[in-house]
Amino acid sequence: MAQTQRSNDQRFHRRALESKAGLFTIVTTLAISVGGIVEIVPMFTATAGPERPDWVSPYTPLEVAGRDIYVREGCYVCHSQWVRPMRAELLRYGEWSRAGEYRYDRPFLLGSRRIGPDIHRVGRKYPDAWHYEHMRDPRTTTPGSVMPPYPWLLERTIDAEDVAASVRALRRAGTPYSDQDVANVHALIGTQADGIVQRLAEAGIQTEADREIVALIAFLQRLGRDGRRAIEQGLTSPTEPAR
Ligand code: HEC
Repeated sequence: MAQTQRSNDQRFHRRALESKAGLFTIVTTLAISVGGIVEIVPMFTATAGPERPDWVSPYTPLEVAGRDIYVREGCYVCHSQWVRPMRAELLRYGEWSRAGEYRYDRPFLLGSRRIGPDIHRVGRKYPDAWHYEHMRDPRTTTPGSVMPPYPWLLERTIDAEDVAASVRALRRAGTPYSDQDVANVHALIGTQADGIVQRLAEAGIQTEADREIVALIAFLQRLGRDGRRAIEQGLTSPTEPAR
């Protein structure tokens, strides 16, 4: 009896679906789309609601410049920016990464390989001068490092017009920069860069405010800090899994 039932079902499936190529294509496409939809829909609704996190702030223009350099140099090929909620990672890198922290990451730089360590929480881990020396030659700060040196970052300069273009593009993509931010890109870069140049000078390193290294340091020192502060103050989503 069960046998007959099953072969009837099979015949129905074959007759009503599999023999009709057009219908079968539509139905299989729908079935396969479910997996994509359940992943993509929450991603858009999570950032569009009124409860979206206000504890992350957009990158400053100098950090945007540093981020562009990070992308250009392909640092994401060796470094991830995603601390996973696992004991070994918490001990090594610090707080695991919350979804809201990526709000202004366009394009995202999660990375998929860790030839070097995860750097999502590297902000303020080292002084500015450490990054300067590390980029000039990683083996001076970290003996035996396999990271390549990036000496040209110490010489090449950023063009404030390019940075302004990046800021305008990000604004068009939805990052909430005000008209004033966009109009003041030059001044904002100057103020933040001067601070880094001064800290480097205190450590005995002479450089200029428009060098690429200064922008990259601004970006690296920023990483993971908004999230860390929000976690300390209990501002991140209360629905996070317990540890
Ligand atoms: C070939 C792979 C590779 C590339 C490309 C690479 N790195 Fe690294 N990076 C490493 C390795 C390995 C380490 C660990 C040893 C060390 O500190 O140098 C490291 C360490 C670091 C650290 C210190 C992290 C910590 O927590 O101690 C920072 C910051 C860093 N890299 C930034 C960068 C930036 C910025 C770029 C692009 C300009 C870059 N890396 C490109 C492999 C790489």
